[in-house]
Amino acid sequence: MRLAKFLANGGVASRRAAEGQIADGRVTVAGEIVRDPARGVDGSEPVAVDGRPVALPADRVVYAVNKPAGVVSTARDTHGRPTVVGLVPADRRLYPVGRLDADTTGLILLTDDGELANRLTHPRYGVPRTYRAKVLGGPVPEAALHALRRGVELDDGPTAPAQVRQLRPGVLEIIIREGRKRQVRRMCEAVGHPVSALERIAFGPLRLGRLKLGAHRLLEADEVDALRAAGVSRARTAR
Ligand code: URA
Repeated sequence: MRLAKFLANGGVASRRAAEGQIADGRVTVAGEIVRDPARGVDGSEPVAVDGRPVALPADRVVYAVNKPAGVVSTARDTHGRPTVVGLVPADRRLYPVGRLDADTTGLILLTDDGELANRLTHPRYGVPRTYRAKVLGGPVPEAALHALRRGVELDDGPTAPAQVRQLRPGVLEIIIREGRKRQVRRMCEAVGHPVSALERIAFGPLRLGRLKLGAHRLLEADEVDALRAAGVSRARTAR
């Protein structure tokens, strides 16, 4: 495997950023500085960036967290609010996969696998996110549901087609493949039914299930494999 890809798979940086780190002489293989991003590595020799060893993807972890309201999904908050990262005691640095609004509850993933995080959030891969939204002014009429399904005009452009069903009057299940800021809230508002409570219940193939609010669990290898596959399958068909 090329060195730059190895670093990206190891969650160090994007492939392009890894190439920059290599060119800057920050990367060693078996203790020697390597400046060729195409240098082959197979994991048998230690690789380090700025002297810190790079672990293989097999050593990477993914946690599912049920984020409570009031907890922010950035790694650190400038206003001192609690963060999702703080909910998971781990022996390594974890990063949230995408974002949920502070007032949104539900499933958010934390990982130290940068390549996986990128695949799960990059628009090119279109990984579906499933939300349950309680909205005001329900029941939502069929015309509004239809508009949400077709795509609505937001100030940063139209939304892509979504899957939308009304589970009971005023409670919608919405599946989108984009991750724009406050997207579900803005979509519902655009059709005249502002959200009063929003929960994410699935990310790609992974469901929140019975995980309690504020709790976390380490994903099993087959669950991580399914997430990886979700970030690959559409990439192949998207072109
Ligand atoms: N859409 C929103 O409006 N908020 C979220 O947190 C996630 C999706």
